[in-house]
Amino acid sequence: MWQSLFGKNAERDNTIFEKLKECSLPRHTAIIMDGNGRWAKLRGLIRTAGHTAGVDTLRNIIKTAVDLKLEALTVYAFSTENWKRPAPEVDFLMTLFYDYLKKEISEMKRDNVRLRFLGRIDELAPRLCQLAHEAVDELKDNTGLTLSVAMNYGGQDELLRAVQKIAAAKKENDREITLEDIEKNLDTAGLPPVDLVIRTSGDLRLSNFLIWQTAYAEFWATEKNWPDFAPEDFAQALYDFSHRERRFGGVEAVKC
Ligand code: IPE
Ligand code: IPE
Ligand code: MG
Repeated sequence: MWQSLFGKNAERDNTIFEKLKECSLPRHTAIIMDGNGRWAKLRGLIRTAGHTAGVDTLRNIIKTAVDLKLEALTVYAFSTENWKRPAPEVDFLMTLFYDYLKKEISEMKRDNVRLRFLGRIDELAPRLCQLAHEAVDELKDNTGLTLSVAMNYGGQDELLRAVQKIAAAKKENDREITLEDIEKNLDTAGLPPVDLVIRTSGDLRLSNFLIWQTAYAEFWATEKNWPDFAPEDFAQALYDFSHRERRFGGVEAVKC
């Protein structure tokens, strides 16, 4: 299904941002920022050079989301499975996250971005964990884009933690556990369900990202690696989303 969407990028229209003005945008977009390593390999560089380049893309995409007045953007920065990577790459990524966050807080404050983290943040290095908490606190009164960064995040781990919290609070003879109980105990509590998932660099899988929240999400994929993903590509994904018909299990098509 995702494969058939690849062709769309070839027909990119430069007026895509103009066209987007007429469209209804997703409330919640989630991005799997993949392909940094492949981007670097194609250029004869080491993998970590791809991560450095990917940071610039992230900054541009957040800026675009702010300009478009999107309500919620969630980005997958580091999965619970990414610890399997060689230690020097993991260390590099952690330092990159720290430096990026430190540098971007004031810009995000200016842009009215509210920040949250998904995942086991408290198990990251203490200085990164502390900075993450400080950044959330610093930006908590903002009212624009809600940016969620999934870091040390796994969808299965998130569900497990939610179930554990519910079980710990449950008393005998309590009412049955509801869908709402689960949602309230996820890291994404309070965020709208994901409308659109974007994945770069051609792989067609969720890789343990937001497995609950994407139940009725639309998928959009591109073969471009994350460092090459431009604001126009992002706009194209949003534009294509606005032309999808969603059915949510019913027979009536719901225009996005
Ligand atoms: C995504 O790029 C960044 C992270 C997972 C942190 P990759 O590092 O997975 O790049 P590829 O998929 O190996 O090309
Ligand atoms: C998903 O990418 C995780 C992030 C983008 C942070 P991966 O590169 O880890 O996914 P797999 O291993 O190819 O499924
Ligand atoms: Mg990858």
